[in-house]
Amino acid sequence: MAKVGIFVGSSGGVTLGVAEKLQELFDGAELINMEEDYDDLSQFDEFDVLLIGSSTWGQGDVQRDWVDPLYEMNNDEPDFSGKKVAFFGAGDQKSHPEEFVTALGKMKDIFTKLGADTEFGYTSVDGYSFKYSYAQKDSNFCGLAIDEINQEELTQERVENWVAQIKKEMGI
Ligand SMILES: Cc1cc2nc3c(=O)[nH]c(=O)nc-3n(C[C@H](O)[C@H](O)[C@H](O)COP(=O)(O)O)c2cc1C
Repeated sequence: MAKVGIFVGSSGGVTLGVAEKLQELFDGAELINMEEDYDDLSQFDEFDVLLIGSSTWGQGDVQRDWVDPLYEMNNDEPDFSGKKVAFFGAGDQKSHPEEFVTALGKMKDIFTKLGADTEFGYTSVDGYSFKYSYAQKDSNFCGLAIDEINQEELTQERVENWVAQIKKEMGI
């Protein structure tokens, strides 16, 4: 069976909450909180499937606990080929419409560069209202976009639909 690792960076607990829902829906998945549980890049090695979560901060920045690991990945270039990777994260489309969930797109670029298959879990931008997102590719986000501030009532359904989608797409 594919080993699933959920790696999450979250400052206020919103993306962490999504990660916990994901863990419930993926039997046997391990949750790695980047603030408390992450030590080094070798932790990615033990998983076939990575669910990578980050909220977006500043002007479209990744959550702070991802800054050093992503820097290391860019420098060390570990080989992630053979890994299936999908992205999720929280943002705020009303207060930050110019960089809504941009962190997802930035992380996707790095994992793709390292050879991972990152063509999983894309979701439609329909139902959101924002000006720009680096996570948008054509009419999809390159992952699951959550907005607990403006669309809290949609979170549970979005998470459940996304899990069903990636299980199907990844064949797990
Ligand atoms: C100072 C500040 C900057 C933010 N910048 C962005 C941003 O660029 N894009 C976005 O989508 N959300 C932005 N947000 C909203 C957060 O991503 C949102 O509150 C999210 O739910 C936080 O998730 P977390 O609790 O998992 O960290 C910002 C929030 C604050 C307070």
